[in-house]
Amino acid sequence: MNIISSKDISKEFIENIFKRASEFEERTKVETRLIASEQNDIAKGKILATIFYEPSTRTRMSFESAMIRLGGNVISASDMKNISSSKKGESLKDSAKVISNYCDVIAIRHNEKGAVEEFSKGSKVPVISAGDGANEHPTQALLDFYTIEKEKGTIDGLKIVLVGDLKYGRTVHSLSKLLKHYNVELYLVSPELLKMPEEIMSELAGLKIHTTENLSEVISEVDVLYMTRVQKERFENPFDYEKCKDAYIIDNEILKSAKKEMIIMHPLPRVNEIKEEVDLDSRAKYFKQAENAVYVRMAILEEVITNDGLRITN
Ligand code: CP
Repeated sequence: MNIISSKDISKEFIENIFKRASEFEERTKVETRLIASEQNDIAKGKILATIFYEPSTRTRMSFESAMIRLGGNVISASDMKNISSSKKGESLKDSAKVISNYCDVIAIRHNEKGAVEEFSKGSKVPVISAGDGANEHPTQALLDFYTIEKEKGTIDGLKIVLVGDLKYGRTVHSLSKLLKHYNVELYLVSPELLKMPEEIMSELAGLKIHTTENLSEVISEVDVLYMTRVQKERFENPFDYEKCKDAYIIDNEILKSAKKEMIIMHPLPRVNEIKEEVDLDSRAKYFKQAENAVYVRMAILEEVITNDGLRITN
């Protein structure tokens, strides 16, 4: 069972992840000192390898925390580009053939689109994408969904705006592919240069979608404001980055026109998209979203370790 694209994730899988993540969240809160033996046994004797060719704070550490909370062990390479034999020219498939002897499941992040799938072809154990260039980040999408459902009580019927770098932002690519399972209204707000790619748009047929460059036009209508960082590292032309980098900045002033119950999300890290003053607003949920990463990744690892992959697709 691999988790490489949100396209392959069924509604049933999403709902099971919600249920288990919610249980893990409750248990973790109640049992901060005494972790339940049942929870501690789920991954007993298993090893997660986290291999990252790109920087990460949340994804790698929350995967590792999740595995340890499930009673498993972790081997970690946080700077594969510089410390691994890829520097000597080893292919991704060869690396996978070798690393998969040393562990039971692999979470991998790579800077190139398609690299995670290429790696999975050489692996004997399940591979979970932890970010695949500007392509996808499916486990982030699952934790984003979990956060929305927890905070709003539902997904169906919501108006959700995705703001910023919709071209290179892999989290919004994966998130929108999950949203297509639900009855939501989607607002896409970006500069012309950073529009949602056509290949993603074509997968969202059936959803009611509004596109604009002007956030002020739509902020008063939405239930979820999902901000993204402009992905500097993906730009070929630095002048294009300069043009787009501060296109949308959320501060207390703009939030005056938003609904009182709207929630503000961001996969983080933020650069300049959300002013620090907003952190004190009760609608700000981005740090809670980062916390939820652990519970959701516990549920994902449990699925991968204990199932044969029969549940991921419809
Ligand atoms: N949200 C996210 O992917 O964060 P990191 O890059 O810190 O893992």
